[in-house]
Amino acid sequence: MAAEAGANRVGIKISPEMNYNSITDAAPQETYAYLVDQLRGWGLAYLHVALFGAKFDYHALLRPRFEGAYLIGGGLTQDSAEGVLYEGKADATVFGSAFLANPDLPERFRVGAALNAADRNTFFAPPTAKGYIDYPALAVAEAA
Ligand SMILES: Cc1cc2nc3c(=O)[nH]c(=O)nc-3n(C[C@H](O)[C@H](O)[C@H](O)COP(=O)(O)O)c2cc1C
Repeated sequence: MAAEAGANRVGIKISPEMNYNSITDAAPQETYAYLVDQLRGWGLAYLHVALFGAKFDYHALLRPRFEGAYLIGGGLTQDSAEGVLYEGKADATVFGSAFLANPDLPERFRVGAALNAADRNTFFAPPTAKGYIDYPALAVAEAA
């Protein structure tokens, strides 16, 4: 990908200890430290580390190993994401399900609007529009 598009247009996402689909790793700290060490010098645009309940502080382990932008995601709210940025723990924060359920998520954050709740039942359902492009956006007057 980097050869085709330029490394500065390519990022990588990792999710240490994410056990979805029965993924296991006997030594995730060693695995991910090694992986990120191997990325050094590639000039990638970003490293995105998504954590879903891991007890270990992977950000302390991984961020110093990477020279590009460091992104944190996984279970964030507007408040917790702002806390991450305020404390300088990441260069940017990442939202998944909230963005899926709120096509205008940044605008909702900006105006303090309520969020549509994501419907987990449609996350991995057969690909149809339902749960992907049918969540309502804010009315124009509300967003103004
Ligand atoms: C419908 C859906 C599908 C996803 N598929 C993948 C995937 O294939 N690979 C992956 O690394 N993460 C996947 N994710 C996780 C997101 O990339 C992101 O890490 C996560 O949603 C962030 O946490 P949050 O939803 O709490 O903001 C998916 C998330 C959703 C909601």
